[in-house]
Amino acid sequence: MGNDPPTRLGDVKAGHVRFEGVTKRFVSPVGQTMTALHDVNLEILPGQFCAIVGPTGCGKSTTLTMLAGLDRPSAGKVTVSDQIVSGITKGVSFMFQADALLPWRSVVTNVSLGPIFNKVPQKDALEMARNWLRIVGLSGFEQHYPHQLSGGMRKRASLAAALINKPSILLMDEPFSALDVQTRSIMSNELLTLWERDRPTVLFVTHDLEEAIGLADKVVVITAGPGTVKAIFDIDLPRPRGALQEIRFQPRFLQLHQQIWEALRDEVQRTYARQGAPVAAKETIA
Ligand SMILES: Nc1ncnc2c1ncn2[C@@H]1O[C@H](COP(=O)(O)OP(=O)(O)OP(=O)(O)O)[C@@H](O)[C@H]1O
Ligand SMILES: [Mg+2]
Repeated sequence: MGNDPPTRLGDVKAGHVRFEGVTKRFVSPVGQTMTALHDVNLEILPGQFCAIVGPTGCGKSTTLTMLAGLDRPSAGKVTVSDQIVSGITKGVSFMFQADALLPWRSVVTNVSLGPIFNKVPQKDALEMARNWLRIVGLSGFEQHYPHQLSGGMRKRASLAAALINKPSILLMDEPFSALDVQTRSIMSNELLTLWERDRPTVLFVTHDLEEAIGLADKVVVITAGPGTVKAIFDIDLPRPRGALQEIRFQPRFLQLHQQIWEALRDEVQRTYARQGAPVAAKETIA
């Protein structure tokens, strides 16, 4: 898709992410302090694609939020290219599970918002947005409103809105979880193609192990809360990866899946048990 040259070649060190001894505590609505993350140590090299998996409530979203500078650690430090994160982190785009498109704006004006906030003149910003819509395969839909697009098309528009800012770090919090299986797998392939253009550092949160292995250079498994890094798996599958539907039956893929699931399973079970699962269900997963 698209043939624009990468524009960040001189900027390859920009997305070096480090979490060092990061703990995050919250005060609950009833005034109790709870530890969401405990002593997280993690390094993600510039241009790496890192998937984060872990049971619900283990602190995955909190990890991304602190990297974006939307929240601070209670202890330890988060750095981007050796600078401690304080305030909104420059060069970061965040893509959430829910669409973040403004419903009252056309697709092209939605996508142009990033450059406009960055003081690009409106005419140029709209031109950039049209170009990005072409890259993500939405030419002809510029004047549509978000509700006039399918779920997959809205994700493409959100991707264009995230990538138009040429982020050095792209944070994605379960971005495709609301999509059907086929659209999701198409979006995964498209994401990889786009990532290979400019190579931002990516932190991609997912509950789907196949998606994590298919996309990432490394998969980080977080423990049941308070979350900490349990294991990190290097995904040595060759790139370009090809369609997830085709590579997921390769022996190395299956082997990695087995290993990562073994690390993840106990954490999922612990969370499930804590949440008071029905007795019969507990017996099934134990
Ligand atoms: N602002 C907040 N105030 C109080 N508690 C919070 C806050 N944000 C998160 N938490 C708590 O921190 C823990 C981790 O939350 P987080 O949203 O990071 O989990 P998660 O791994 O993203 O879960 P999921 O997979 O369900 O999205 C949870 O117990 C949550 O209730
Ligand atoms: Mg979350």
